[in-house]
Amino acid sequence: MTDLAALQATLREAGQAHLCARLEGLAPPRRKLLARALEAIDYELVSELADLARTGSTPAVKTATPDLEPPALVPLRKEGRVAQDAERATEHGRGLLASGKVGYVLVAGGQGSRLGLDGPKGKFRVGPISGLSLFAYHARRLRKASDGGRVSVPWYIMTSPANDAETRAFFEDHGHFGLVPEDVFFFPQAMLPALDPDGRILLAAEDTPFLAPNGHGGLLTGLRSSGALDDMRARGLEHLSYFQVDNPLVRPADPLFLGLHARAEAGMSSKVVAKRDAGEKVGVIGRIDGKLGCIEYSDLSDELRHAKDDRGELRFRAGNIAVHALSVDFLDDVTRGNLRLPWHVAKKAMKVVDENGRQVERTGYKFETFVFDALALSEESVTLEVERAHEFSPVKNASGEDSPETARRDLLTLHAGWLAAAGADLPAADAFGLHPVEVDPLFAETGEEFAQRMPATPVIRDEGHHYDAP
Ligand code: UTP
Repeated sequence: MTDLAALQATLREAGQAHLCARLEGLAPPRRKLLARALEAIDYELVSELADLARTGSTPAVKTATPDLEPPALVPLRKEGRVAQDAERATEHGRGLLASGKVGYVLVAGGQGSRLGLDGPKGKFRVGPISGLSLFAYHARRLRKASDGGRVSVPWYIMTSPANDAETRAFFEDHGHFGLVPEDVFFFPQAMLPALDPDGRILLAAEDTPFLAPNGHGGLLTGLRSSGALDDMRARGLEHLSYFQVDNPLVRPADPLFLGLHARAEAGMSSKVVAKRDAGEKVGVIGRIDGKLGCIEYSDLSDELRHAKDDRGELRFRAGNIAVHALSVDFLDDVTRGNLRLPWHVAKKAMKVVDENGRQVERTGYKFETFVFDALALSEESVTLEVERAHEFSPVKNASGEDSPETARRDLLTLHAGWLAAAGADLPAADAFGLHPVEVDPLFAETGEEFAQRMPATPVIRDEGHHYDAP
């Protein structure tokens, strides 16, 4: 039961007195709703965020002129010792995968606002021919890693309160895509209130505070508070493969990456792709004042952006593709106390309800933490360069770059390349020069594997995913 007087005292003390008036102005049933939602908010945290909103900036996590260094990179071209190490690492990774020491972590709590879809982005039908959804693509890769059910492939999926029910229902409706239902663990991420430039909590409706997901960095504490970490321990998992929902080319069960990470006894590792050119606006993995992290494009001077190494490649080329490996011990260590990742503050126009109950657009601030900031906490880390065309083509925007169109194009191009390299006949190219072939992720994960498994015919079936892609 809500103690209204106590709640109002808390609100006044926290500089949120405007909400007292809102509470008083509501009829009892709605007042109860608002009171319950306000009670769930951590006001100590809100005070900290309010300071950020008032100054309108991200806290000084970096010095004014940070010392920036590229990471030690395991390069794409592996020669000599690097090639031998990679072979040993791949063997090691295969062992980890085959003995069920690896768990899979997907972040799918985002709002997908750029794509402009209602509902979970994972439902988006990305398969150019199959129409398979992003969730189905990922699930089939995990099914493949399960080696016909011989290895359990626990999958921890972070949703948000806004898409949790719909995500679970989608998995139910599709028989968990052939995975063991008990091995799929959903949990919603935490939400944070959005604040106005004076640090006051905004309302989305008269009886509802404006809440937004706390960023993919919320994964780490979420894995502990949801009980996922306990589940990982109970299953004897040692490493986690982290990926994002929007990349249909991701390889969650890559033995090389997992093997390199495990052999280095790394806490958290990253896969990167070479930037297309100095001007590509992506964050790069690198050292910031000695600590590993993601250097934002805007933080690199023109000179550093163009700087070359002794092989003539960009020094800062390690484009972050948000694919990581984490050891379960690392996750346990960093979330044991009060994990403090830096806040990233986004200023946005938000649809809110004003003092008079009218729908208006106001400037507000959203607060997120990012998973890559945990790299700074990892003593050892591997940064592995991979081929962009093989592993990265995210669906971010409704059109143009990183859109459904580019993801479908990249899938077709990659898979046609596998068929051609394996000596298969390709169907005629369409008007865009694309051959309409798609390889089921359950059949092969790489071109080499595809070639080995030929001539069996890969078949993609539409499993009846009823989702209207835009
Ligand atoms: P993005 O940064 O692309 O954000 O998320 P988004 O919310 O999906 O899309 P926009 O910016 O609104 O268009 C990268 C990955 O991190 C997850 C997303 O689901 C996606 O897999 N994510 C992001 C979360 O799980 N929680 C968050 O709070 C933010």
